[in-house]
Amino acid sequence: MPADFARDAVARYADDSRERFEKALREIVEIPTISVEPEHKSDMARGARYAADLLVSMGAKARVYETGGHPLVHGRFETGAGRPTVTIYNHLDVQPAEGPDWNTEPFRFTREGDTYFGRGTTDDKGPAISALFGAKYAADNGARVNIDFLWELEEEIGSPHFEKTIRDHAAAFATDSIVVCDTVWVSRKHPACPAGLRGLQGFRFTLRTGETDQHSGTAGGAARNPQAEICELIAQCMDGKTGRVKIPGFYDDVVKPTRQELEDMRNSGFTTREFKKDHLLKSLRVDDPLEVMKRIWMMPTFEVHGIAGGYTGPGVKTIIPPTATAIVSCRLVPNMKPKKIAKLVKDFVKSKNPDVDVWSEHALPGYSAKTSGPYADAIKASMKFAFGKEPVFVREGGSIGAVLSMESVLKAPVYFLGLSLPEHGYHAPNENYDWSQARGGMMAFAEYFRRVGELGA
Ligand code: BES
Ligand code: MN
Ligand code: MN
Repeated sequence: MPADFARDAVARYADDSRERFEKALREIVEIPTISVEPEHKSDMARGARYAADLLVSMGAKARVYETGGHPLVHGRFETGAGRPTVTIYNHLDVQPAEGPDWNTEPFRFTREGDTYFGRGTTDDKGPAISALFGAKYAADNGARVNIDFLWELEEEIGSPHFEKTIRDHAAAFATDSIVVCDTVWVSRKHPACPAGLRGLQGFRFTLRTGETDQHSGTAGGAARNPQAEICELIAQCMDGKTGRVKIPGFYDDVVKPTRQELEDMRNSGFTTREFKKDHLLKSLRVDDPLEVMKRIWMMPTFEVHGIAGGYTGPGVKTIIPPTATAIVSCRLVPNMKPKKIAKLVKDFVKSKNPDVDVWSEHALPGYSAKTSGPYADAIKASMKFAFGKEPVFVREGGSIGAVLSMESVLKAPVYFLGLSLPEHGYHAPNENYDWSQARGGMMAFAEYFRRVGELGA
């Protein structure tokens, strides 16, 4: 092993890079790359341009690809022909950040001690830049790999143009293996890599029963109430208290956890107390930790994100609204088919209330990840090198659309090395990232590239 990859040397590099890291994170967090909001279209282009310039300033080559939607950034540290290529995937688009619960401006990077606040700090700009700094070290210090970056700007909207774009440029994006850096640990003391991800099928239910608001004293009793009908419909789909989905057939394709998976969950370091604390939840549907883990990682769900329409202002406005919309989605587990679930839900809704229109939104299948073999071993060893502890491999509950596309189009195996923590607040107000995860992340990636270089082509 070259002396340059001794733990002390890599740690010193990370510490020496702190100011430069914070500057880059500040600048990219302050570009509001909210992919779901059309009025941010020019910020998406600006974010992509900034990211490409950052790659170049770090010594990589970079190019922004148009996709038909928001752009895709590709970068590369070319260290030598004939060497294998590792591609790091991150996303640079973020969730919206409205709401009264932010203690700082969401699109101002705010440092408090070792914590960085701002929308996108942990999902997924901080991890992206941590991986970049680790890659730079590896490339500058003789790791025998070429290192590519795929930075997507449509992840939070279900990656609608990602697969086509990588197919259209498959030669430029050719790679031997992929590391996705967009997942969460069990807790700060318990590094974790996903053994799988859940999929997603989104829906919008709308019901229109009139043209305009009507006085409930004149029409009430006879006029239909779309808000009430949508609530009734949701109650027919699921039991609100237990979460049990009541649509016949919904659970048909769910596979039971294996003994090994149960064992891994029991050894993951997960506790209900910390889970509640990290997610600021007052109480849960169940308290047994194994039950909680099964529910968040291994079971499908039916979730109501919001019901819109009608009056929600001060006091009581005695109207009957003309419309109601519910935005809902189902998390899916591996082996469930989004198309099948979409049809099941739509047919069920129509059977209960034929006037409700059902629109299917993003559809992603679940994913089973590889947890063994030389690349997974290299991830384990690199996390141990950086953080002093090997990761546990347990399923994770979120979804990343690009994973299956990269695997099928680029025909390269996908692994995961995530850096976010539960208390960083994915998609929540006061989202944050921290120096300890950034520093360790740089070290873990530097070591991973060295190790993959040793594995050879
Ligand atoms: N980083 C998350 C995915 C994730 C969440 C991985 C939790 C592991 C644990 C990603 O940015 C995300 O939020 N994905 C969306 C995708 C959807 C909008 C298609 C999700 O899971 O809701
Ligand atoms: Mn993410
Ligand atoms: Mn996200």
